[in-house]
Amino acid sequence: MTTYTLIGPITQLIPLQKIGIKGAIKDQDLEIIENAGILIEGENIHTIGVFSDLKEKANALHAEIIELHTDYVCTPGFIDAHTHICFSGSRANDYAMRNAGRSYLEIAEAGGGIWDTVTQTRKAEQQLLADGVIKRANTLLKRGITTAEVKSGYGLSVTEELKMLRSIKTANSSTAADLVSTCLAGHILPKDFDGDHKAYLEEMSTTLFPILKEEQLTNRIDAFVEQGAFLPSDIYPYFEKAKQMGFDITVHADQFNTGGSEVAVKVGAISADHLEASTENEIQMLAQSNVISVALPGASIGLGCDFTPARKILDAGGALAIASDWNPGSAPMGDLLTQASILGTFQKLSNAEVLAGITCRAAAALNLDDRGRLDSGMLADFNLFETAHVHEIFYHQGKLLPSQVWKRGNLIMN
Ligand code: NIG
Ligand code: FE
Repeated sequence: MTTYTLIGPITQLIPLQKIGIKGAIKDQDLEIIENAGILIEGENIHTIGVFSDLKEKANALHAEIIELHTDYVCTPGFIDAHTHICFSGSRANDYAMRNAGRSYLEIAEAGGGIWDTVTQTRKAEQQLLADGVIKRANTLLKRGITTAEVKSGYGLSVTEELKMLRSIKTANSSTAADLVSTCLAGHILPKDFDGDHKAYLEEMSTTLFPILKEEQLTNRIDAFVEQGAFLPSDIYPYFEKAKQMGFDITVHADQFNTGGSEVAVKVGAISADHLEASTENEIQMLAQSNVISVALPGASIGLGCDFTPARKILDAGGALAIASDWNPGSAPMGDLLTQASILGTFQKLSNAEVLAGITCRAAAALNLDDRGRLDSGMLADFNLFETAHVHEIFYHQGKLLPSQVWKRGNLIMN
């Protein structure tokens, strides 16, 4: 039997119904419903409106009515569209060495870098990896992230990539958050592979891709396009094969050098993520395409590097999502709201642009159209912040956490 629940009155509800995917947004353009109510039907939103107007409808449906007695601001549940939260081990030593002025090479020679996490992750049992993902996903949920993308990429062999993706699938059924998995077998060429970059990618696409389909482990393929990882010439055939098999493409692009965003545009990727090194050329190219640009301020903060030119991307008419990149190496913090707020201060983004970047535009970066906005028929994923004005959320730079997180129509209990 479908259950109905009405919640309200909510001081300010920000539905984001009319905010487009591309371009700059002014705070004045943010729709606000005052004294709002949300009528929930099962796991979806039945109606959004003024609380007093919804009461009659709620009574007719025998809805449970939850009356709120203090100020609340309601946003859609946040979406973290880029994480690597399936891993084992710590890279605190890399962090200390980097901050002490050691080079990338020196860190790698001391046993650090991505390969260290690959080694640790390969040693971990599948269930142990799943437990780590569940724990991190539950942490995200408390901070209002109701959907998180999770990449593999620390396995780097058919068996080990499968272990990671199976553990993400297990984790997805054991947390209330929705986890969207992505295969990042194209992270780096593993040290123990007997062959070159092309041969490795060929093995992954011919052996791993069919199993991903068969076991429904993911419908997304990612690769790190960068000097020292995979060059555009290596990656085109890999992405073409993935596209032919019906996978969505996403790219780690322009983190240190350009080239990746051009690949993303040419292969018709859903998103190009990082973009710290993107120049005017790449910004224009992305803005004229349907590729969502994903800024990862957590990686800039973790590495002490420049931020993605988010302002320029928006002003050029591009689509900007913001994600945490939570991973043990470059982005260990894993706090989306803090990082998105900080990106706002450095890049002069309006609060509306930051909010869209972690809700409706982040949903677009995952090719999901059932979340990221509050509207009839959308998932009932939303956050209630105990404050009277939406500006307070970003002003507190991640310190103001939601007092209530609702996921698929259920209140998540801490
Ligand atoms: O998105 N850029 C490449 N990959 C990750 C880092 C992974 C790691 O350092 O373990 C990123 O920043
Ligand atoms: Fe990443």
